[in-house]
Amino acid sequence: MDFSSFMPTAWLPPLAIGLLLSSFTILALSKRQRDTLLSRFQIHRRRASGASTPPRSFSPGKKSSIRGDTKEPSPSNVSTPDFVNTLPPSRRSALAELAKATSPSNQKILLGTEPSVESLLKNALPSSRSYDLENDTTKYTPTGFSTEEIKAMGDFPAYDILSGVPLPQPYQNFDPEKALPRPYRPFRWAYHQTMSLTKMEPDWWLEVENTYASRIKERKELFKEHGKKVLDYLPGSELACKELMEMCLQFYCARYPTYFSLSADKKTFYNGLLKSETDIKSMHPLHVLLNNIPEDFAIVLRNETDGMYYFRAGVICSSLGWNVSTKIGMQLKDIHKPIPDYKEKMSFSMDRFFSKMPTNSPIQRGSWGLEIGMPLFMPAGHPHEQLRKIQKQDLTVDECHLRVDWQTLRRLPLSAGIVFNFKALFTPLREFRDEPYIPSLLLKIIKEGKKSLMQYKNTWHVEHVFIPELEKYEKEQVAKGLVKPTNAGEETWTVATLEESPYFPGWEEKWHRQQGF
Ligand SMILES: *[C@@H]1O[C@H](CO)[C@@H](O)[C@H](O)[C@H]1NC(C)=O
Ligand SMILES: *[C@@H]1O[C@H](CO)[C@@H](O)[C@H](O)[C@H]1NC(C)=O
Ligand SMILES: *[C@@H]1O[C@H](CO)[C@@H](O)[C@H](O)[C@H]1NC(C)=O
Ligand SMILES: *[C@@H]1O[C@H](CO)[C@@H](O)[C@H](O)[C@H]1NC(C)=O
Repeated sequence: MDFSSFMPTAWLPPLAIGLLLSSFTILALSKRQRDTLLSRFQIHRRRASGASTPPRSFSPGKKSSIRGDTKEPSPSNVSTPDFVNTLPPSRRSALAELAKATSPSNQKILLGTEPSVESLLKNALPSSRSYDLENDTTKYTPTGFSTEEIKAMGDFPAYDILSGVPLPQPYQNFDPEKALPRPYRPFRWAYHQTMSLTKMEPDWWLEVENTYASRIKERKELFKEHGKKVLDYLPGSELACKELMEMCLQFYCARYPTYFSLSADKKTFYNGLLKSETDIKSMHPLHVLLNNIPEDFAIVLRNETDGMYYFRAGVICSSLGWNVSTKIGMQLKDIHKPIPDYKEKMSFSMDRFFSKMPTNSPIQRGSWGLEIGMPLFMPAGHPHEQLRKIQKQDLTVDECHLRVDWQTLRRLPLSAGIVFNFKALFTPLREFRDEPYIPSLLLKIIKEGKKSLMQYKNTWHVEHVFIPELEKYEKEQVAKGLVKPTNAGEETWTVATLEESPYFPGWEEKWHRQQGF
């Protein structure tokens, strides 16, 4: 597998997401280990050219320094005016289409004149205080929409048109009692090519599984217990939170029409799985999400003063080692501040990626770890942390799980907020027994993967059970002919990332068989 087989921007965000989620792990690395990670990042960064749609820059002279990939400014240049003058690609082209489905008076508003980039920048919607749609003067979001236009669009505008990402297809024959997540096995070999990242599949942004009701319950209890540590929002995030909530509900209604719907006036959300009705305006949008969508979301917003992105709102129940209150209000570089060298080596690239990410190019990836049990929320100091420091002697195979954090990153079309969405999925080790090549692939990574990277993943604390068990499965698979030689005449296969990655040969059959549909 070659780097070039991915989108040109593919190599920035995985670390962006990975770092945001796991900065605590990186802190535990030695200097040498960090350098390994950093050098990997740099290789990737150089290959990252501009986003597919050119971003807009007010000052043409500044443009080349933002888009250029060769020159890295010194740390003190990180917040140069370049970011202040750079906006993501405009989505105003969607207005004509939206105007078709609205009243004549709103049509007139939506088909108004195109503002100049200069006026967008000068009259930017504040990201740090609540905006009053009734009384404040005209302001613009970074994607080019005015407050009047947003008001004219009303509630639940067609976000597929606005974003350029299609709504999902209805999921035929879906059974919520039996639904399982797809069996993500994002294992890659050779390990230095492991950053697997692809375009987000529009049908799979959010997923309902058989754990739906219990996860919602668990998440609501986590909120009851931890409050702002799992759900919080700062002034200025209102539009982004409303937009995200509406997009999620719109997605659910389109994807699972049997189970979710909106009333004709779009004021009530019907949840057939929980048998509940939500009066949408009666609570904060993030609470609508907490009560109905068992996934984690973090929203970062563009600050109109410095052009940088700040974590302004989120509902996050599956964080490892940190919580919402630890990070809320922080700029990307401050979120990562404790990481040595971050500012010098990564900050600029990450900021540049965020400043330009287009609305119509969401991305997805999986990262994995090996766990004892199924720890979802593990704040710093959680007793579970102790388990990662030892090889528990009486650890059983039944306790061993693969944890996959399936992540997506997309820009919201109206507010231009960028949303991380992630969900933690757990798979018992025993599942690998009949999954061709997976035991061998994982064994190879555990045994021969770069030591520093394996320490980063902390596979050590469960290796004493994983390795012998996986070896047993591997032998069995070879004997049964489940694993076939890579080349005719050879005895066995040469371990390499599977063509089916992040799955395995026959995964769909297994998945359908286990679900019963
Ligand atoms: C950083 O900024 C300083 C002063 O603004 C400038 O002299 C220097 O060339 C810049 N460095 C880079 C690498 O752009
Ligand atoms: C926006 O950026 C300015 C300048 O860096 C900073 O003073 C301000 O606190 C930031 N606002 C928010 C909401 O973070
Ligand atoms: C706008 O201003 C009017 C008059 O001051 C006030 O009554 C109204 O509540 C304001 N609207 C909002 C949304 O705050
Ligand atoms: C949340 O993070 C803060 C700051 O790091 C920490 O003091 C607190 O103990 C954490 N609480 C939980 C429940 O994670």
